Amino acid sequence: MADIKVLNRRAFLANSAALVTAAAAPVKSFAEESMLTRLIPGTDEALPVVGLGAPDIFYNIPAEGKDLPKSVIQTMVDLGGRVIDTPPFFRPDVPVVGALITEMGLQEELFLTGKITVSGKEEGRAHLERTVQNLGKRPMDLLMVHNMRDMANHWPTLRDWKEEGKVRYIGVSLTRSKDYVALEKFMKTEKPDFIMTGYSLHHPLAAESALPLAANIGVAVIVAEPFKATKDGGIFTFVRGNPVPEWASEFDCESWAQFSLKYILSNPAVTCVVTETRKVSHVADNMHAGYGRLPDAATRQRMREYVLSL
Ligand SMILES: NC(=O)c1ccc[n+]([C@@H]2O[C@H](COP(=O)([O-])OP(=O)(O)OC[C@H]3O[C@@H](n4cnc5c(N)ncnc54)[C@H](OP(=O)(O)O)[C@@H]3O)[C@@H](O)[C@H]2O)c1
Repeated sequence: MADIKVLNRRAFLANSAALVTAAAAPVKSFAEESMLTRLIPGTDEALPVVGLGAPDIFYNIPAEGKDLPKSVIQTMVDLGGRVIDTPPFFRPDVPVVGALITEMGLQEELFLTGKITVSGKEEGRAHLERTVQNLGKRPMDLLMVHNMRDMANHWPTLRDWKEEGKVRYIGVSLTRSKDYVALEKFMKTEKPDFIMTGYSLHHPLAAESALPLAANIGVAVIVAEPFKATKDGGIFTFVRGNPVPEWASEFDCESWAQFSLKYILSNPAVTCVVTETRKVSHVADNMHAGYGRLPDAATRQRMREYVLSL
């Protein structure tokens, strides 16, 4: 496996054993050799623009063994990614990702998020302790309240944790569009460090006011559900059988995953996007969205119209 310190694409292509499994991913030369990064507002800390969400193989070791989830993580790192939105404890299984990251010695290299996914003051605190213990990272990088649940209890806890130096950044996640009014009110009054929200070619509602507000007041944005399309499936189901249009090469895009991700990343309010996959070739595909040119405003409009016309 390639050296984890090697963060550029050229070295990945030369060294990584993951290339064998990533053979289906595009390997053509891009204008940029490093993944794009964006600053966390108000800081000089930059995050690479594409990271990982929490696939099922981060909850349970799959039948194929530990190598699969480790290769997924390693491929992200080799291609310049750092952010992992780690799985919460709302399933009966204790997530395995913490132990894998520990075995790989990547705690310091990665930017790890955790979320409170229970209600109740004491339950929330216990949940955070469990999350941090599982991930083995102190201070934690980012802790959030999942879908803004039980904010009266959890937000003061997160503020205390930040003040005590147990976590560097705090925020909330919210992917239910009907609650954006509450999210925006919260952002204005509490000015969290981060929000995580759903945003995709098929679900661009966040771009109407939540994302501009985040940019205005200096809140970092992690985009979740980047491939969400209809209730019957993600964008891959929707576009099946259709090639990526030729004009997508104008912004260094070679796949539908990159088409979706570059649409998201070309919104300047977005700090990074997390993608969920259990396939190494898909990690490589997704990470490549963080390289090269991004579409301009007119092209963004064209992209959306094109996808909706299929
Ligand atoms: N409220 C919250 O806090 C919240 C809510 C929702 C999501 N999230 C976060 O956001 C992350 C991502 O959102 P999501 O769960 O909706 O998943 P997503 O990343 O939008 O879509 C995942 C699906 O896309 C497929 N896929 C990924 N890359 C692909 C590629 N290059 N080519 C073809 N198919 C590809 C995956 O299948 P394969 O496994 O076959 O690749 C999987 O079926 C989650 O893991 C989680 O971390 C947070």
